[in-house]
Amino acid sequence: MIRYLVLLGTLLGPSMAESYMSVNCTAGEEDIYQFNATLLDGSATVDFGDYRGKQEPGNSYEEIVNGVKYVRPGGGFVPNLTYFEKIDVNGDNEHPIYTFLKAYCPYTDSVFEVSENLFYSPQRVSDVRWNWEKFLITKEGKPYKRYNANTMDPAYLEDDIAYLLSQ
Ligand SMILES: *[C@@H]1O[C@H](CO)[C@@H](O)[C@H](O)[C@H]1NC(C)=O
Ligand SMILES: *[C@@H]1O[C@H](CO)[C@@H](O)[C@H](O)[C@H]1NC(C)=O
Ligand SMILES: *[C@@H]1O[C@H](CO)[C@@H](O)[C@H](O)[C@H]1NC(C)=O
Repeated sequence: MIRYLVLLGTLLGPSMAESYMSVNCTAGEEDIYQFNATLLDGSATVDFGDYRGKQEPGNSYEEIVNGVKYVRPGGGFVPNLTYFEKIDVNGDNEHPIYTFLKAYCPYTDSVFEVSENLFYSPQRVSDVRWNWEKFLITKEGKPYKRYNANTMDPAYLEDDIAYLLSQ
């Protein structure tokens, strides 16, 4: 019976769509410290194990850094964080870290339309949808929550970050 209702929901489409501002990730053995990523200027590969026990993690280097400084948000903004190289987050060439994150954290929106305007494949409902989608990771390196791209204001994560820091 439940199976039937779920199927019906699928057939009814968007009216039964489920969308969440955030979803909990499932607990697992794996942590994020097994991964690495290359700096934006290509100078080094950072082992995420170096971030163990810390809560913060620098190319076309000029393009991205200058984009932040002069365009978005602009006004000479220089963030104090490490810039990593641009990577694929979906599709056959996605970075393993995103395969990991998406495996543990379900999508926040059940509506997904395969589109020719998305230049990757395969396309899946679990894909990262837009820039402001976020994943929050615990001190132990375990995925904690995934946030809908609509959570553009970082203040939305404040309570969750405060909670994790208190643990
Ligand atoms: C998500 O986790 C929080 C606490 O970790 C819990 O209170 C909440 O019920 C969970 N939400 C769902 C949908 O499981
Ligand atoms: C980075 O991780 C990839 C697998 O994702 C691995 O093949 C590669 O050897 C790692 N590089 C370093 C420097 O650890
Ligand atoms: C970034 O912050 C760290 C820690 O507070 C500090 O040591 C470092 O000098 C800062 N770097 C820049 C470029 O502001």
